Amino acid sequence: MLILAPMQGLTELLFRKTFSRCYPGAFDLSISPFLSLTHGNLKDAGKKVEDVMPELNKGSMPVIPQLLGHEIDGFIDLSNRLFDLGYNEVNWNMGCPMRRVAGKHRGSGILPYPDEVREILDAVVPSLKPQLSVKVRLGYRTSDEIDRIIPILNDYPLASVTVHPRIGKQMYSGTPDLKRFAEILPMIKHPVIYNGDVNSVYDYKKIRTLFPTVKDVMIGRGALYNPQLPTLIKQHCIEDFKDSESVKSVEDFNNVKPMPAEQFINELTDDILKLNIPEQAKIRKIKEYWCLLSKSLHGSEEYKRRLLHCEDLEAMRTLIFEMTK
Ligand SMILES: Cc1cc2nc3c(=O)[nH]c(=O)nc-3n(C[C@H](O)[C@H](O)[C@H](O)COP(=O)(O)O)c2cc1C
Repeated sequence: MLILAPMQGLTELLFRKTFSRCYPGAFDLSISPFLSLTHGNLKDAGKKVEDVMPELNKGSMPVIPQLLGHEIDGFIDLSNRLFDLGYNEVNWNMGCPMRRVAGKHRGSGILPYPDEVREILDAVVPSLKPQLSVKVRLGYRTSDEIDRIIPILNDYPLASVTVHPRIGKQMYSGTPDLKRFAEILPMIKHPVIYNGDVNSVYDYKKIRTLFPTVKDVMIGRGALYNPQLPTLIKQHCIEDFKDSESVKSVEDFNNVKPMPAEQFINELTDDILKLNIPEQAKIRKIKEYWCLLSKSLHGSEEYKRRLLHCEDLEAMRTLIFEMTK
């Protein structure tokens, strides 16, 4: 499978829907940007939980809700409510590198504390209605912290372990540590999903060749740098995806010509403009996407500079139209 990575503020419902419409069959699955466990009560959780409400997700690629935090009651409560909504898997975020999150032993900040991981899994797993999967980094401060986490993960019936082989302190700098990944891969008894810097068909093939036991590959920023990427990967490596339901759902997948990035940018911009949010929020959102999506356009630097300085929605739309025509 090709899985769309969770990216807070980017791979939310609007993006997943637009992407699914523009690139049918490209992704098989997505993990939602994290829902904080302080959103334990679905009714009061407001906007963020809307992201995974099944009726709003119709027409979009399948999604697994992701939870961030270590509050045991909230973990069980939110997971079981999500199960009642129809989700048979939730994902636990053990990878978020942001200091204000990690500082509270959340996200990758829990990786230096294996006893806490065990305590949480011990308390949570027996009471969960959905299956649990996790997304981890190699550690928070050092890349050997994972060595003490894996035996704990192996003790629980997890659906999968997604590994992004960086440490939390790195944020997104440097390159994924494939040497460490190769060392830990055989230690994990659950299906492993690889994630990190798959930005081309070549990167995908490299991961598949180096690590044939990896079950699935997850792509985040690569799908924004080049939205055609997941379709191209599937077309170049169709053998890997011959059982993929999403490929089967598209007639003659191999001969589909993926939508040009320019057109996708326009579709996404139009969908953002239709959102029922204040104008300033729309401007912010378009700029966030633009920083990544503009990488797929040649000669876009000057336009990008103008767009990032633009504070008027109308002018912004015109600029994007010009840039992508
Ligand atoms: C802006 C941004 C937001 C992110 N939000 C989340 C998140 O909510 N949950 C999570 O597990 N990872 C999050 N990540 C990490 C990505 O899921 C992924 O692990 C990372 O980008 C590396 O994969 P890539 O090189 O394919 O992008 C985020 C990354 C970025 C850049």
